Amino acid sequence: MKVLVIGGGGREHALVWKLKQSPKVTKVYCAPGNAGISEIAECVDIKGDDADALLDFVKYNWIDLTVVGPEVPLTTGIVDSFIKEDRVIFGPVAAGAQLEGSKVFSKDFMLRYGIPTAEYKTFSSYLQAAEYVRLKGAPIVIKADGLAAGKGVIVAKTVEEATDALSLIMKDKAFGDAGKKVLVEQCLVGEEASFMFLTDGKTVVPLATSQDHKQIFDGDKGPNTGGMGAYSPAPVLTEELNEEIMEDVVGPIMKGLKREGINYRGVIYVGIMMCKGKPYVLEFNVRFGDPEAQPILSRLDSDLFELLKATAEGRLNEVEVKWKDEVAICVVLSSKGYPGEYEKGKKIKGLDSLKDKKDVVVFHAGTGLKDGDVVTSGGRVLGVTALGKDIRTAQDNAYKAIKEIDFEGMYYRKDIGDKAIKK
Ligand code: AMP
Ligand code: GLY
Repeated sequence: MKVLVIGGGGREHALVWKLKQSPKVTKVYCAPGNAGISEIAECVDIKGDDADALLDFVKYNWIDLTVVGPEVPLTTGIVDSFIKEDRVIFGPVAAGAQLEGSKVFSKDFMLRYGIPTAEYKTFSSYLQAAEYVRLKGAPIVIKADGLAAGKGVIVAKTVEEATDALSLIMKDKAFGDAGKKVLVEQCLVGEEASFMFLTDGKTVVPLATSQDHKQIFDGDKGPNTGGMGAYSPAPVLTEELNEEIMEDVVGPIMKGLKREGINYRGVIYVGIMMCKGKPYVLEFNVRFGDPEAQPILSRLDSDLFELLKATAEGRLNEVEVKWKDEVAICVVLSSKGYPGEYEKGKKIKGLDSLKDKKDVVVFHAGTGLKDGDVVTSGGRVLGVTALGKDIRTAQDNAYKAIKEIDFEGMYYRKDIGDKAIKK
């Protein structure tokens, strides 16, 4: 069977790597991919948002399954176009992708189906939003409605910071149309965790839990990034809490999708904040988390191809998902300056020495090839992912491996895993 993976980050490298392990898969293509992916799959130079070109590619090459990595093609309806042409594709239709594509839709959906979340109000007028912020006081959270490449959420510590954020989004239009509407949200304090599940609209299969580290600096300090590291499982989500999330969050999501006539086939990522012992939903994503996918897929003991194909074909009830007992951790190596401005094209050294290491896989994110060398091409460059019998061993394995790698301006957090060890 032939598979096409759309995307070119660390998540997609992990997807390609795991799909390749299926005895049923004969060939994997990735559009556009990256330097690491090109070592194990054939990279195709088509952008993820070019649905027509991707559909042509799939028809011409007899692709049996297409897997969509990032959110943008999902929100613009790639799955709808593929379904119209009877192609098997993993990911939700555009109506379902609204759960991530519009934060207003997503919060209103939570409210309609009684899903626990922070109190909020929606605005399309700057003056009214600013007035509400003054009334509520700080800390307070400002969110642009649409997709803003992970930059549309500002957790403001002061009223001034919140007003500045509103001005940036609504007056300066920093995120274009994504900021036409804005959410002003109560600020929740607690520990975050990621809960993902597969669904074909009927059956629900929860995946292993995980925890991301969004801030750039150790101790969860500094601005938010796409994610600087993750581990799986997340000890904060106990067995009991998982059951509570299934009942209070996943159940209502499935009921809501059904009631709104959305036939959702893909993964739903629920961003959880544990607040005074209760899980609150911060956000939904309609794709695998990045970097959470890297440790989760490293722990998966089932055939990913079968799982994703069964999801896409509406027969998720036929498959079973198994996990390795080991813990997995992924530490992201980023470019100097990220999440702000950064330079590209820095030569990466030491990757060869890690190629055959047991228990360690280096997933590429922002990498490319220049004159035969692997060079940096993005903010998040690599995700060093390691397994271990417990979190401490996995952490040791990952940080030991990192010592082998070097590029100019390489930065990483030194505390990924510490929170889990303290539990
Ligand atoms: P989102 O894209 O909605 O998940 O927001 C990105 C990040 O902003 C989250 O992972 C949280 O760290 C933070 N955040 C979002 N909403 C809230 C909230 N209501 N209270 C506190 N922090 C939040
Ligand atoms: N790691 C968070 C996300 O994928 O949105």
